[in-house]
Amino acid sequence: MNLKVNLAGVELNNPVMTASGTFGSGMEYSSFVDLNQLGAVVTKGVANVPWPGNPTPRIAETYGGMLNAVGLQNPGIDVFVERDLPFLKQYDTKVIVNVCGKSTKDYVEVVERLADEAVDLLEINISCPNVKEGGIAFGQNPKSVEEITREVKRVAKQPIIMKLSPNVTDITETAKAAEAGGADVLSLINTLTGMKIDVNRRCFVLANKTGGLSGPAIKPVAVRMVYQVANAVNLPIIGMGGIMNVEDALEFILAGATAVSVGTANFANPCTTMEIVQGLQKYLEKNKIDDINSLVGLVK
Ligand SMILES: Cc1cc2nc3c(=O)[nH]c(=O)nc-3n(C[C@H](O)[C@H](O)[C@H](O)COP(=O)(O)O)c2cc1C
Repeated sequence: MNLKVNLAGVELNNPVMTASGTFGSGMEYSSFVDLNQLGAVVTKGVANVPWPGNPTPRIAETYGGMLNAVGLQNPGIDVFVERDLPFLKQYDTKVIVNVCGKSTKDYVEVVERLADEAVDLLEINISCPNVKEGGIAFGQNPKSVEEITREVKRVAKQPIIMKLSPNVTDITETAKAAEAGGADVLSLINTLTGMKIDVNRRCFVLANKTGGLSGPAIKPVAVRMVYQVANAVNLPIIGMGGIMNVEDALEFILAGATAVSVGTANFANPCTTMEIVQGLQKYLEKNKIDDINSLVGLVK
């Protein structure tokens, strides 16, 4: 029985990974989760210089999910390389670094800096709704998606995952643009822009006014988008958005995802990723399926 999957020549022990920003670099979680059991750890977004993030409050609960406007707080690439990468190297898992920036130059700087580091894949976040410049501004315009993908590919030594925004009318347009720019893998979806109002204080709950909606509330949108993108491009897809358990993960795989990321669920149950790996194993056994890859995009 095979759980191994391949993303642009990188073989993962299984298709289950963490979603950027919900697992740090794995340190805090390592007392709950055996990182050796995960297909990959995807780190929190890292920029060329430290970012302070947005003012608080920047997290709010919603029905079936949460809003966040963390604003890509991160210590910058130098601290990340010295502190986080040596920690991750100890484990038998793939390391995927999520990269953020305010300009193409920022992204390129981080990608160049990581060229000779022990990093397996790079995930380029062009879809964060919580930063004023960069982020989502790149991710909503097909022309700029293609351009930034091309610039990043020019300097990258690792395969490139472009992380797509769901805050668009037709996600297949940005997916095709990333493919045209030379992306190796696509990941989707990032959060959906949302808002919550405190009726007693008559003000916005988040200091940033808007935030990114994640969790089970967004899963049907995410599954639909993975299905659409899988049928529009010829690239492997990492599916995410509200995955809480093995059934959710299987939905994404059947819709066309080669691998899956677990985000918000980590906050409710830090062991979710490991439980999904075990659940996939059991599902294959029970249904006498030899290879997880035979399920990818099976539902047409
Ligand atoms: C608190 C928080 C922080 C996040 N930070 C990042 C980030 O740094 N980079 C990124 O690409 N996505 C980030 N995301 C988006 C997630 O990686 C994921 O795309 C999204 O939350 C949908 O998956 P989920 O419903 O399983 O959480 C963040 C999400 C949350 C909830």
